[in-house]
Amino acid sequence: NLVQTDWVQEIKRLKKERNAVILAHYYQTPEIQDIADFIGDSLDLSRKAAETDADVIVFCGVRFMAEVAKILSPEKTVLVPDMEAGCSLEDSCPPEDLAAFRKAHPDHIALTYINCSAEVKALSDIIVTSSSAEKILSQIPESQPIIFAPDRNLGAWLNRKTGRDMLLWPGSCIVHENFSETELLKLKQLHPNAPIAAHPECPAAILDHADVVGSTRAILEFALKSDSDTIIVATEPHIIHQMEKAAPHKTFIGAPGMDGNCNCNMCPYMALNTMEKLYLALKNKAPEVTLDEKTRLAAKKPLDKMLEMAA
Ligand code: 13P
Ligand code: SF4
Repeated sequence: NLVQTDWVQEIKRLKKERNAVILAHYYQTPEIQDIADFIGDSLDLSRKAAETDADVIVFCGVRFMAEVAKILSPEKTVLVPDMEAGCSLEDSCPPEDLAAFRKAHPDHIALTYINCSAEVKALSDIIVTSSSAEKILSQIPESQPIIFAPDRNLGAWLNRKTGRDMLLWPGSCIVHENFSETELLKLKQLHPNAPIAAHPECPAAILDHADVVGSTRAILEFALKSDSDTIIVATEPHIIHQMEKAAPHKTFIGAPGMDGNCNCNMCPYMALNTMEKLYLALKNKAPEVTLDEKTRLAAKKPLDKMLEMAA
């Protein structure tokens, strides 16, 4: 029965006791972001997980992100506040379906977005994140046929940007699919000088209006360096916490969803993590991410390739 403020103290105490590090994604609640040792996009978080010398990693994000930490740092204990924190992109791509798709396209390599299960990574040739995909693609010969899974919006955006013709898996993110072009244009009319920064998981109808398209870190950096004092943010709105902390004089507006406000664009999976569950994870050393060694080693290969090609 600890009151809200006690979570912070207790989490800090247990973190020291366990020699733990807390990694958090920008879509976590402000309280979790504020207690984290490191916040970043998926690529930053993977790098951090690979290099930390802590004994325990508490991963405040979604399950596939914590799995990446375990794949890259198998000797560490990787804890998550809630094991049910999945991702609609992961759900859209069961490993057996991807295996069948690969079989039907034997001349294609599989370039796979990091938002997928360890089993799907194990079936892939190279993993990408939104911040590394273009750089990695530029190192693959134009003549090489590619399957891109599971995000069709990121895949289509990469095809448009690079002139490639990757075969796209039909998955999508329920959060980014929910932005409304009509509502965005209404908002833009109210703030004609506000640039729009969007995540590539958004559909093309949204990306077509964006001044910048990039990963969560890229969106944050753009918002902070922009000369404009009002910025429209087309990604999960919890990232606005970091923007407001770093630039309190600016106004950041979450892009509206179908209902005209940005509250429906919160990621329901990320929202499963709370300060109480973070405290309990540290206290109980559970829930712990475990992977069978065969899957881990197979998933590590395309992840190592990503880290090498994105360097
Ligand atoms: P980033 O790699 O841009 O942080 O994206 C992660 C994610 O899940 C976006 O929905
Ligand atoms: Fe998955 Fe979308 Fe949530 Fe990111 S915002 S974790 S892609 S459901």
